[in-house]
Amino acid sequence: MKLFDVYPINPINIVKGVGSLVYDDKGTEYLDLYGGHAVISIGHTNPHYVKRLEDQLHQIGFYSNSIEIPLQKQLAEKLGHVSGKEDYQLFLCNSGAEANENALKLASFYNGKKMVIAFRKSFHGRTSLAVAATDNPKIVAPVNETDNVIFLPWCDEAALEQAFNKYEISSVIIEGIQGVGGIQVASVSFLQKIRSLCDQYNSVFIADSVQCGYGRTGKFYSQDFAGVDADIYSMAKGMGNGFPIGAISIAPKIKPAYFMLGTTFGGNHLACAAALAVLEVMEQDKLMQNAATVGGYLIEELKKFPQVKEVRGRGLMIGIELPEELAHAKKDLLFKHHIFTGEAKPNVIRLLPALNLSMAHADRFLEAFNSVLKASEVVAH
Ligand SMILES: Cc1ncc(COP(=O)(O)O)c(C=O)c1O
Repeated sequence: MKLFDVYPINPINIVKGVGSLVYDDKGTEYLDLYGGHAVISIGHTNPHYVKRLEDQLHQIGFYSNSIEIPLQKQLAEKLGHVSGKEDYQLFLCNSGAEANENALKLASFYNGKKMVIAFRKSFHGRTSLAVAATDNPKIVAPVNETDNVIFLPWCDEAALEQAFNKYEISSVIIEGIQGVGGIQVASVSFLQKIRSLCDQYNSVFIADSVQCGYGRTGKFYSQDFAGVDADIYSMAKGMGNGFPIGAISIAPKIKPAYFMLGTTFGGNHLACAAALAVLEVMEQDKLMQNAATVGGYLIEELKKFPQVKEVRGRGLMIGIELPEELAHAKKDLLFKHHIFTGEAKPNVIRLLPALNLSMAHADRFLEAFNSVLKASEVVAH
């Protein structure tokens, strides 16, 4: 059997990782500013994380949701505390798409309505409704197509009001900062507008925090910058530092009923141990603060490069928009300077490192970035 070939891959075999550094099978060191796609939140092989998972594995790795799993309650309590949403309710699942799928479904159960508002360039995952709310026709199969989703221009308050006037809106799903869409930050006033329209029409505000959440921006959810609460927050990626786990955090006004949601693997013992370890390290090492400080520094320094068209983002979720002639920068960073970064089409470098990235590693990146830009000037002349 061979692999189903769905990803163009770099010819690099990473076999080890420590903090923000990873090593290939030849022993070459790489600086990881990609975090395995925003997943590595507390650094590779964090000792507390490794020990908590190892200890749990020796106790029990999995049993079903038909029994008491006190670790789930501990996780709910801790997450409520760290995210500042103590009165919310937690439903655990396994991935970001699943979290959004459950959020959209729960919203519809809640208000009995069908229409979903999503935004241009959004990405919400690959399951049926999540992908239908994703603005990329290439990944939407005919079976996923639905008239229940309307795509609106990003941060267009008038279009939003019109849609609420015209349709029975069940929910609005929005990334506080679009990730795949190229690190586009939702304006504070737009998020506030969503809040007030959802209140007015009994619609559900879903904050997709899969990429922009979990402390990455310096606040737990990037939508927090607007000073309003969403009704449902979806999360995954950084939540387990690599262990697959996703969740939705649900406002108290949405009441559960038996079997309206369910999962086999969601909230298993090992996943909860991983998620608890992540939150413990985040709290102990003040990682949200670090994300704000080191991220703020990177953003300011990156803005000083005249070749850069725009720097967008908050904390350690950063997009560097480059002109066409610097489209090779990401490859140069990887193959000449051994630095992993992410990208968004057409020419945005995405930085999504672990939240404990050090200033020294930030400087190492800035120096490498500088020499990539310098080298291309030399070639151009
Ligand atoms: C904003 C956002 N939502 C949802 C998802 C889907 O998450 P997953 O790949 O875990 O299903 C992603 C993944 O990149 C994402 O960036």
